[in-house]
Amino acid sequence: MSVKRIGIFTGGGDCPGLNPVIRAVVLKARASGIEVLGIEDATSGLIDLDYRSPHGNRWLEPRDVEEIVGKGGTILGTSNKSDPFRFVVEHDGKREEQDVSDRLVENCAKLGLDGLISVGGDGSMRIAQRLIDKGLRIVGVPKTIDQDLGATDYTFGFNTAVEAATDAIDRLQDTAESHDRVMILELMGRDAGWISLHAAIAGAVHVCLLPEIPYRIERVVQAIRARRAKGKPYSIVVVAEGARPAAGEASYEGPRELGKMRRLFGAGYRLAAALEPHLDVEVRVTVLGHLQRGGSPTQFDRVLGTRFGVAAVDAVLAGKWGQMVALRTPDVVLVPIAQAIAAPHLVPANDPVLKAARDVGIVFGDE
Ligand code: F6P
Repeated sequence: MSVKRIGIFTGGGDCPGLNPVIRAVVLKARASGIEVLGIEDATSGLIDLDYRSPHGNRWLEPRDVEEIVGKGGTILGTSNKSDPFRFVVEHDGKREEQDVSDRLVENCAKLGLDGLISVGGDGSMRIAQRLIDKGLRIVGVPKTIDQDLGATDYTFGFNTAVEAATDAIDRLQDTAESHDRVMILELMGRDAGWISLHAAIAGAVHVCLLPEIPYRIERVVQAIRARRAKGKPYSIVVVAEGARPAAGEASYEGPRELGKMRRLFGAGYRLAAALEPHLDVEVRVTVLGHLQRGGSPTQFDRVLGTRFGVAAVDAVLAGKWGQMVALRTPDVVLVPIAQAIAAPHLVPANDPVLKAARDVGIVFGDE
């Protein structure tokens, strides 16, 4: 069956590079005679056809995407609480999670969509796979600053996030050195330490604490004291938001909210509180937060996003549904979505980047 009409949506947290994907999909699809419906706020515009946000479900033409390659965020809007399998609805005056996936499938038929392009991270690809199991035709495009999706060398957004983190470290270095302080920088990444690991090397930090390597506070204290003893009274410590002490859990803000994942919060301040009693220098904390997610995509993320968008439409044209585009340097290939979500992509103990970091003296709080 030839494809006449597809929908595209961006799901989960936004990330730099989404707009280059949308642009490439629209340009390539329109040139191939396919209409493209931009679906608003992840799957929200498919779950409820009357749903209206400032982004708006709309048919996209090349003129709509001409100027967006260097723009962060997503012109379609996104959401990390529009999982159709646990959608939050009001029922008898109470909020509860409901499976509204059948309605989403019916709405795709009403809109005459022959297939969908789902641009998202780990969570969005899991949802995509469940929708595929219900009969929808979907091609996946992997995005996330966290770099925690398997099956692709890189997701776009990661490079821009590491740039932002490195810039923050460079700035902290100046002021830490001037005031002889210990500066803690908390970075995003959920359960994956990739942003922290890469930024730690690029910014030449002294201590880096990752979710994959539980830390001992004595080891961190020892590293900071050893620097003081060598005439370097300041230190820069990067801590991933999902990092945890050897005898503890990651830091969360309260219980999980309906329709959302549990929110990581407080790793940096917890570390500062644990360090302060052992040090006679000031400890300050910076939480970089969403500054890592915003901003213009780097050229790497613009190119990768564009290549992924083009490859996704190629997959649609070839009828390769259920596949996710992936970078296997230097090629963009297709892998089954099911394979991409089989296991999270975390920093392994034998990772070569981790080895390089250890070899240039970065302390990870374990050894
Ligand atoms: O997955 C991307 C990410 O930025 C994570 O690194 C972070 O834990 C989470 O999203 C934050 O989500 P929110 O914007 O909902 O606070």
